[in-house]
Amino acid sequence: MNTSPPFDIIRAADHEAMSQAAVARMVAQLQRKPDSLFILATGGTPERTYQLLAERGRAEPSLCDRLRILKLDEWGGLSMDDPATCEVALRRTLVGPLGIGPDRFAGWQSAPSDIAAECDRIRQWLAEHGPADLCVLGLGLNGHLGFNEPGDHLQPGPHRAELSSESKRHSMLHQARGQPVCGLTLGVGDILQSREILLLVSGAQKAPQLRRLLRPEISPQFPASFLWLHAAVSVCCDEAAYPAI
Ligand code: PGA
Repeated sequence: MNTSPPFDIIRAADHEAMSQAAVARMVAQLQRKPDSLFILATGGTPERTYQLLAERGRAEPSLCDRLRILKLDEWGGLSMDDPATCEVALRRTLVGPLGIGPDRFAGWQSAPSDIAAECDRIRQWLAEHGPADLCVLGLGLNGHLGFNEPGDHLQPGPHRAELSSESKRHSMLHQARGQPVCGLTLGVGDILQSREILLLVSGAQKAPQLRRLLRPEISPQFPASFLWLHAAVSVCCDEAAYPAI
């Protein structure tokens, strides 16, 4: 039985080099298909990648002028302009600098009055506009993808998630004005329906999670392990996250 991971592993020297390698993948996708739909995670890991993509897009406006973006997840209960939201992070790094309007940027309202209706809205949006051409993900300290948190089961589609203790301590929340009450996230099925997946992993604190991901074991207790079921996953990491070669 072949148990080597089905991932294309790109190992860069450090976070900056990892970000450069990741943006090269995103640019190549946009050159192949200018109206690509990207599902984008936020967090400390992809931030620099998005800044670099915005720089490329500003230098070469035709590169990103048809790019469409769907926000992977959001902190439920924060106001939309809370500095900790995924919305603010994407607007600051990519959507704002590239001048992407609401026709090409979609995603969760952070404090919807009716969460079930908001999940339906995102589900319908994805059914109409998807599947994504590329899904950019980070790896949670607990193995989560978006707010698909470890548990007895995972959900395939857009849903409200209970935040894990690790998520409640996430660095994005250090700058929060409010307290999130839940996570709002695309499901594992939505992620796996993306044509390609780019998982970014940086820093020594992620080395145990990356090691675990490379083991041929699929478990809802480690949601990232479901990436073993996808045929086009690239893992873009740095040496700190993947020291042993
Ligand atoms: P990070 O977050 O990029 O800030 O490490 C990843 C995650 O928790 O999903």
